[in-house]
Amino acid sequence: MAKVSYTCSKCGAAHTKWTGQCDSCQAWNTLADQGPLSAGPSKTLGGKRGRAITLTDLATIEKAPPRTKAGVAELDRVLGGGLVQASALLVGGDPGIGKSTLLLQAAARFARNGLKVIYISGEEATAQVRMRAQRLGLIDSPLMLAAETNLRDILTTLDEEKPDLVIIDSIQTMWADHIEAAPGSVSQVRSSAHELTSYAKRKGVSVIMVGHVTKDGQIAGPRIVEHMVDTVLYFEGERNHQFRLLRAVKNRFGPADEIGVFEMTSKGLVEVKNPSALFLSERGDPTPGSAVFAGIEGTRPVLCEFQALVAPSPHGQPRRSVVGWDGQRLAMILAVLEARCGIPFTGLDVYLNVAGGMRVTEPAADLAVAAALVSAREDAALPKDAVIFGEISLSGALRPVSQVENRLKEAQKLGFCQALAPASKKIEDIAGITVRPVKDLASFVEELFGSR
Ligand code: TYD
Ligand code: MG
Repeated sequence: MAKVSYTCSKCGAAHTKWTGQCDSCQAWNTLADQGPLSAGPSKTLGGKRGRAITLTDLATIEKAPPRTKAGVAELDRVLGGGLVQASALLVGGDPGIGKSTLLLQAAARFARNGLKVIYISGEEATAQVRMRAQRLGLIDSPLMLAAETNLRDILTTLDEEKPDLVIIDSIQTMWADHIEAAPGSVSQVRSSAHELTSYAKRKGVSVIMVGHVTKDGQIAGPRIVEHMVDTVLYFEGERNHQFRLLRAVKNRFGPADEIGVFEMTSKGLVEVKNPSALFLSERGDPTPGSAVFAGIEGTRPVLCEFQALVAPSPHGQPRRSVVGWDGQRLAMILAVLEARCGIPFTGLDVYLNVAGGMRVTEPAADLAVAAALVSAREDAALPKDAVIFGEISLSGALRPVSQVENRLKEAQKLGFCQALAPASKKIEDIAGITVRPVKDLASFVEELFGSR
């Protein structure tokens, strides 16, 4: 007898029995019937033979896919050097962060650069989009607009219009009429994204889909679309900061982890050419708890400031609060500082923040985090002209990191004179910046704050 399977619409886990709660992600009422599975190899696909497919080798030289540049360096770099023809992209982000603004500006640029671009808004009326375009000074761009949510009508129109680039804002508003579920539900989002992606591949058209990230499971987030598309970009930032980061988290046509930095102004998004200067712009006199990290984001170096505050805790369980860095990693560094350097944080609240709304994911920031924490705890400022980088292992040893030269050059460009980094053979001083190599975390702490 054929087995019936149920799939959780939230995490995708397969179940043989229906249950109210998914064993895997603990969500309620998310299991859906996937129909009978195939009943064994002899009856594969109902026993019918398919046609033979052509196999090929690896040696055939492929031409690089054609790309079009937007002419906005921050966007083109994140795309891996321009928009690839026939690619499907997803731009995710919190509601209100500026996705529509970014894509309207990008669409207008691509249209000016010769692409036939159609912008379909399922969220705003054409008048609203036009008003925004007016405010952004884009009305002279040959961009075509529509406000529509019916996917069938959209695909028919696209078949007739034959554009080069289509923007769908947003995938959560699309409605495929062969599915009964409401727009925004998992099945609607999944099948709309599938239709649009296969349209992109079939017709050689690039499709950019906007997806809102939502915290609760009610409305399907862009996660379920991520594996279908070629490129996933996230647009991030703090609402009350004007800086926005466009981050590539997946890119079949370029490096992942690349970031583009923008500033939200009254005239829309403006690219930030020198993010290091921007992230360090609010730094004043040396203060305890502040450490400058020389990081690498994708292919370029970016300097940013870690700020730590350590204070006696009034709570039984002290607080550990992190913005812009990984909380687990903070716990690890606190444990290593205690175990290997004898610097306990028991009974102390610890707050860690990356200035300017930046989010750092590199383990190379470990040493800068440790420096900020110890500096805050000892109430002693770090040298103002020093940058810090290095990965910390659980033993308290320091691991060398990649692209040291790029980090040092960027630090030198911004007026720093010294770098504290793990000792390694490859490390050399470059003009204007002295490297102070450190062996392990304990000697690093001793060098900066004296013996304890
Ligand atoms: P929007 O692009 O509508 O966000 P999303 O599509 O991600 O939901 O941007 C919304 C915010 O951006 C809104 O709060 C106003 C602000 N904004 C500016 O500050 N300047 C501008 O020129 C524009 C168009 C928007
Ligand atoms: Mg929007």
